[in-house]
Amino acid sequence: MVYLDHAATTPLHPAAREAMLPYLGDRFGNPSGLYAIGREAQAAVDGARQKVAACLGARPSEILFTSGGTESINSALCGIAYAMRRAGAGAHVITTAIEHHAGIHTAQHLEELGFEVTYLGCDPHGRVSVEEFAAALRPDTVLASVMLANNEVGTIQPIAEIAHAVRDYARERSHRVLLHTDAVQAPGWLDLDMAALGVDALSLSSHKFGGPKGSGILYLRRATPFRPLLAGGGQEMQKRAGTENVAGIVATGVALEIASTGVAARAARVRALRERLREGILAAVPDASPNGCQENCLPNNLNVSFGGLESETLVAALDRRGIATSSGSACSNSTWEPSHVLMAMGVPIRRAVASVRFSLGDSTTDADIQAVLDVLPAEVAAIRA
Ligand SMILES: Cc1ncc(COP(=O)(O)O)c(C=O)c1O
Repeated sequence: MVYLDHAATTPLHPAAREAMLPYLGDRFGNPSGLYAIGREAQAAVDGARQKVAACLGARPSEILFTSGGTESINSALCGIAYAMRRAGAGAHVITTAIEHHAGIHTAQHLEELGFEVTYLGCDPHGRVSVEEFAAALRPDTVLASVMLANNEVGTIQPIAEIAHAVRDYARERSHRVLLHTDAVQAPGWLDLDMAALGVDALSLSSHKFGGPKGSGILYLRRATPFRPLLAGGGQEMQKRAGTENVAGIVATGVALEIASTGVAARAARVRALRERLREGILAAVPDASPNGCQENCLPNNLNVSFGGLESETLVAALDRRGIATSSGSACSNSTWEPSHVLMAMGVPIRRAVASVRFSLGDSTTDADIQAVLDVLPAEVAAIRA
């Protein structure tokens, strides 16, 4: 199989798998247990927290383990928004129209609970404007959430500049606005340093960087107002109730450490492969057009619209040739909806429903790219015919 859907999920890294196995076996203790295997489990969770904190330039006490990106995003948005409203700070939230559904649907949930949400648009490359963001800040704004890198087109958002805008606004008005970023697609491709990004909260999902599914990270800067989403026990410093997924947490620490090492070299190698794929497609397939940015984007993402077809047909044809890719459309009520990201970018609907995402990974080779270039032009021509 040629696997080009790393934005959907990545293979479990062998070292992460190795690290988690003992906690699926003999080391099954509950970290809350006061006996030896409980203490051992607690030490393993603490060790993973230290590893994650070191990778992010954060304090261990600022790292919470969750069940994945979706939970981290829900917790950050609801947890901060609820706490700020309860403190009487206001009930306005800023986000973007190109967030992952985990962000968009959480923002819609906040609207149902009486918050007002501003959804910022983007330019044709998928980039949010810092000026528009700054103009959307209001005296009752309590939270902003802008993704770091888009999962469909790979565009990287100017988060550090947005954080500056938030800080400038807060300084002038003595009014606090908390900033969250969905960084789920970033590990392995971008350096993640909390001080440089300037965010108060950041969400990650382990299976996007070589860890297991069902495990995630929420960075919450010290003293960030937060009301836990889940009611229950006092785990995770009273911020995330529920017995810890010890094996998943241990593997998450190992996977993030590996993903955070050699980022520049990995990005350069994979960017070159991505460029070869892009140029090969554009040279051999008529009426193919890339979606998203050319620069300031993830090195592993290529989103292309192929005129005159529907992307699901091409994804299925490539699958029959052993190539795994993804269509940007979402299936809702048994019809295919065009990607909300491409629509926000102003891509015409007939091209939005004809888009295929190729997302490369650490293990992608030259031969993988050649395999795609060998079959894609004929498959596209056959569908069009
Ligand atoms: C940008 C982004 N945010 C959030 C998520 C949700 O992560 P998970 O499905 O692991 O909860 C994803 C997963 O595709 C994503 O790509």
